[in-house]
Amino acid sequence: MRIDVVTIFPAFFAALDVSLLGRARQSGLIEVRIHDLRDFAHDRHRTVDDTPYGGGAGMVMRAEPWGEALDAVLTPGSTLVVPTPAGSLFTQRRARELSARQHLVFACGRYEGIDQRVVEWARRDHEVLELSLGDYVLNGGEVATLAMIEAAARVVPGMVGNPESLVEESHEEGLLEYPSYTKPASWRGLDVPPILLSGHHGAIAAWRREQSIDRTRRIRPELLPDDGTDL
Ligand code: ADE
Repeated sequence: MRIDVVTIFPAFFAALDVSLLGRARQSGLIEVRIHDLRDFAHDRHRTVDDTPYGGGAGMVMRAEPWGEALDAVLTPGSTLVVPTPAGSLFTQRRARELSARQHLVFACGRYEGIDQRVVEWARRDHEVLELSLGDYVLNGGEVATLAMIEAAARVVPGMVGNPESLVEESHEEGLLEYPSYTKPASWRGLDVPPILLSGHHGAIAAWRREQSIDRTRRIRPELLPDDGTDL
């Protein structure tokens, strides 16, 4: 999988050198390239933003540097991802979809966003996804891009040592994950649920599923089917 990121803050992406992703990059499973948008601005101050047409607060990123940057990185099979609080929700399903793409390009906006014509133009020849991490506003697309790259990369086959560990995670089955425990069996007066020490795999699986459903009902009821379907 190849990933290109265009940003005015390349330093954010030093985080991609560490941990699982760092190893995946070293092994060649995932190739990431970071590009500075200002390299595509040609005035003395390398300006990438301007005031919004129609007035209002804040600045908008100009189409010209974005056009040049995307000309340099987009190839015929690329998917362009634009992180924005005005996008559709980024979910585990989306992460899996992104993980199957050959080439992802992330366009990190700042300020009040990128001139909308950039998306319109890119849609002529490419799949373009405007995606939001959630219903809150970040200062720009960089942190959202890091989150999306990590979520997509960790489900690329070969990334996680034991693929089974991905199956029972939160959101993989539309449920939150059950609680986990490790040694010691008793700690500060708190005991691990006895069923987990029983060795009865069937009973443990049933307990975990019950815990998942119960936790989802308490914390994220909107994830459950509301039509009375038994899970
Ligand atoms: N950029 C700013 N806020 C964002 C959000 N919530 N999700 C994705 N990109 C963003």
